[in-house]
Amino acid sequence: MSTRAWVPQWVIENKRDGRPLSDEEIEWFIGGFTRGEIPDYQMAALAMAICLRGMTTQETVALTRAMVRSGDVLDLSKVPGPKVDKHSTGGIGDKISLVLAPLLAACDVRVPMVSGRGLGITGGTLDKLEAIPGFRTHWSDVDVIRMLDEVGCVIVAPTERLAPADRKLYALRDVTGTVPSVPLIVSSILSKKVAEGVEHLIFDVKCGRGAFMKSEAAARELAEGLLNTAAQLGLDVRALITDMNQPLGRAVGNAVEVREAIETLRGAGPEDVWHLTVELGAELLHMAGRVPTVAAGRERLNEALRSGQGLAKFRAMIEVQGGDGRVVDDPDRLPAATIRRPWPAPTTGWVAEVDAERIGRAVLVLGGGRQRMEDSVDPAVGLSDLVKVGERVEKGAPLGVVHAGDEDRFRSAAAWLTGAFVISETPVEEPRQILARLTSSS
Ligand code: URA
Repeated sequence: MSTRAWVPQWVIENKRDGRPLSDEEIEWFIGGFTRGEIPDYQMAALAMAICLRGMTTQETVALTRAMVRSGDVLDLSKVPGPKVDKHSTGGIGDKISLVLAPLLAACDVRVPMVSGRGLGITGGTLDKLEAIPGFRTHWSDVDVIRMLDEVGCVIVAPTERLAPADRKLYALRDVTGTVPSVPLIVSSILSKKVAEGVEHLIFDVKCGRGAFMKSEAAARELAEGLLNTAAQLGLDVRALITDMNQPLGRAVGNAVEVREAIETLRGAGPEDVWHLTVELGAELLHMAGRVPTVAAGRERLNEALRSGQGLAKFRAMIEVQGGDGRVVDDPDRLPAATIRRPWPAPTTGWVAEVDAERIGRAVLVLGGGRQRMEDSVDPAVGLSDLVKVGERVEKGAPLGVVHAGDEDRFRSAAAWLTGAFVISETPVEEPRQILARLTSSS
């Protein structure tokens, strides 16, 4: 083991007793853990101490840097233009990346998106894209740079060398009750963003029933942690806090969400998907200096939609990543489930709730998500045509359509769908989608 200035238990004890750790202690501990010299039980003990005691911004910065240094940083210096990305903390029906990445590429910025897979009730962008026949998400750094140069956007899986300390630590946190710690979440997210080589980054911090952060206060704490730490790491960042009490859009699943992303890029998608895409994208175009104001960014994105350039970029990205680009014109080429059955409204009235968590669980039991990382997902299943809060429904009319592989799965999903919708006898207001906008100085 390198430099024996410390032993692991001293570092653990320092954190346990509330003393801030030095940059050197953190770097040494994470380095030792990555190389397998510090065992899992000592890392888990430190993670728990961090969970209970927290970390200062300086400690979180040091932890992020140590995790970046555990692997390689993607060198994008040869790719011209500003490099931007969006990170969502995860939700139900969140297909924004599929729409946003190609639209931004059409607005002359580069989008090297490294995304994740779904775990639990939240879906993953990679699983959605892999519903497209042939689409590949595993590429080398050299390929990523080539594709980025050629198309302007890529959406890929992390390589083994992207912040390996985070991968190891995340697996440990998952089984030791140490996932919900702001400094651990912040360093986990930011280490991967720094390693992917982006300059301008927007966070979509979700809050509500279907999100990691259930309350606006918790979402704000995470957003502030992300902004403060990122600013010290030299990243240009902003954050939106957005509602995740009901699913985003009208489709939840994999192929059904790709279809909805294509509809959105055709200008015929759900209003909330388009609105959030534009708000996140306009901030990024402004941050990257491509437009003088956020309002001009919105206009630019609308133009990229109207001209069909966003859709053309989506096709180009699918094709460069090995997928069948014809799905863009003919979404019926996407996998389809054998059972497609409407879920009827029990009464007439106004939709007061579409519980994102129950909807997420319904899709999980249909086979559209995974309970353990090694599970595979069924690309064809999910829910489509979901109603939105505030809409009027008639008794017996569909609240959504269930896409299931067999009757057993349908029944499992039905157990979660019962109670997922609340219908009111009186009109219900549409909820606010964007709850707050934060910049590193706000
Ligand atoms: N997403 C991450 O990448 N890391 C976390 O710790 C939590 C969410």
